[in-house]
Amino acid sequence: MKKVNFDEYSKDYDAIMQNQHKNFGDIKYYAEYKIKILSNIVKRDNQNLKILEYGCGIGRNLPYIARVFRKSSIFGFDISKESLEIAKQNNKEISIIESEEKLMRYNGCFDVIFIAGVYHHIEPSLRNDITLNIFKLAADNCDVIVFEHNPYNPLTRYMVSTCEFDNDAVLLSKRELQTIFMQAGFKKNASAYTLFFPPILKRLSFLEKFIKWLPLGGQYYISVKKHI
Ligand SMILES: C[S@@+](CC[C@H](N)C(=O)[O-])C[C@H]1O[C@@H](n2cnc3c(N)ncnc32)[C@H](O)[C@@H]1O
Repeated sequence: MKKVNFDEYSKDYDAIMQNQHKNFGDIKYYAEYKIKILSNIVKRDNQNLKILEYGCGIGRNLPYIARVFRKSSIFGFDISKESLEIAKQNNKEISIIESEEKLMRYNGCFDVIFIAGVYHHIEPSLRNDITLNIFKLAADNCDVIVFEHNPYNPLTRYMVSTCEFDNDAVLLSKRELQTIFMQAGFKKNASAYTLFFPPILKRLSFLEKFIKWLPLGGQYYISVKKHI
């Protein structure tokens, strides 16, 4: 399977995504929603943290991270150079890390690492090594929060199968993702199924805390920690 090159989609990424979700509401909701969960887990938004979004793409989540973690230094990294260009233009206050070589210089630095919608694009045979590198980037006590598509949700599967930049997607379950992070040395903190309701039904999202165990959410997250 040929890996999708997000350089080719960087300019149209938002438009493609919004078109795919046209019956469900404004896609900005997804970014805001995830960062709200991130801040509830990290609970340190009054501190000066170093926060990395690994696989930040065109930077859709970065403004929300910056808004919540006002005192922190925010960094974005992606392997798609064209996507990083757009992320840089739209997020002047954020430090963009442009290469894997430069990223390695930050080993042991980050207090929080946020990853959304990246692992299903990483070839399964490479996932363990990439996660080991993420472990190296983490400082002691680092919180790592990873969001992924839920393969048990039929609508999610349909959306992935009809999305042009998901041609290389290999979905993975919450348990599989957790295993990869445990094997890299992280300790389990929390996990939940999320996004049971699309943006147009966001008023119902308060119900999600009661059904987060149900493997039918559109996505899920895992939260892990680096303890030495
Ligand atoms: C679906 S996009 C998600 C972008 C962003 N996280 C968001 O939520 O809008 C997936 C991103 O993962 C990036 N990606 C894929 N493999 C990667 C890897 N090995 N390391 C870093 N980023 C990667 C792609 O370049 C792409 O920008």
